Amino acid sequence: MSPLDIPRRLLERLGAADSVVVFTGAGMSAESGVPTFRGAEGIWSRFKPEELATMSAFLRNPQLVWDWYAHRRTIIATVQPNEGHRAVADLEHLVPRVAVITQNIDNLHRRAGSTVVHELHGNIERNYCVKCGAPHEMGSERASPEVPRCAMCGGLVRPDVVWFGELLPEEDWEAAVRAASGADVCISVGTSGVVYPAASIPAIARKAGALHADVNPEPGPLSEAADVFIKGLAGAVLPVLVQHLEKLRSRPDIAVPGEGR
Ligand code: OAD
Repeated sequence: MSPLDIPRRLLERLGAADSVVVFTGAGMSAESGVPTFRGAEGIWSRFKPEELATMSAFLRNPQLVWDWYAHRRTIIATVQPNEGHRAVADLEHLVPRVAVITQNIDNLHRRAGSTVVHELHGNIERNYCVKCGAPHEMGSERASPEVPRCAMCGGLVRPDVVWFGELLPEEDWEAAVRAASGADVCISVGTSGVVYPAASIPAIARKAGALHADVNPEPGPLSEAADVFIKGLAGAVLPVLVQHLEKLRSRPDIAVPGEGR
């Protein structure tokens, strides 16, 4: 990507920003090798969400749902954060307050070094008991194909991810709304922006006065609503954005590169 592709008004706002939120979806991890959900190659083109990602599906066939998450856990355990995740983590050295608000359950933002991460759809590395709610630490049964049972009450253990029809984790959601409401800039990356309430984060930020930039190889509802759309892959766009911001933060007197407003 050439420097000309990063709009000047985004760099200027980022250069002066105290607080930035980065709102991410599956496309953020696509270059790491984690499949996205929608589109021709997406998970939901091959599987039905109501058979794999709902509480009633789990109660109907716990083993099927557990096996599917075990498969995804294996994929996630073998992949690495990409250049995009690392650029998001680097933002913390350039902006006083950075919060990552993610729909991803893959833990890759934390593994890349981001320290403030609000996970709106849970985390595949955590599990809890459907009966008593106790968190479940995976020990030796990590290698076992059976659905684990709770050590406290014997109930079935499920992944700590948000399924369709479930509420978002309250603490993460409230922290995300607070961060979005106080942000100077919101950068959405790699999300189709169709799953609510998560998809309302950029609108919350815009309403509170933030400049909203969307990064995605394809236009969609978020890019249409955004102040700035950067068409491209997360792993290509975000490192360039950070490089320009580094220059700007170290030499605020120099001219900001980039195309016109
Ligand atoms: P989607 O699969 O709906 O959208 C992925 C987006 O990433 C699309 O807009 C792609 O164009 C874009 N994309 C693909 N590769 C990219 C790349 N390298 N860089 C940047 N963008 C790229 O995934 P989400 O929007 O995350 O929820 O989906 C939202 C929720 O729907 C998920 O959290 C999940 C799913 O059902 C639950 O499981 C509750």
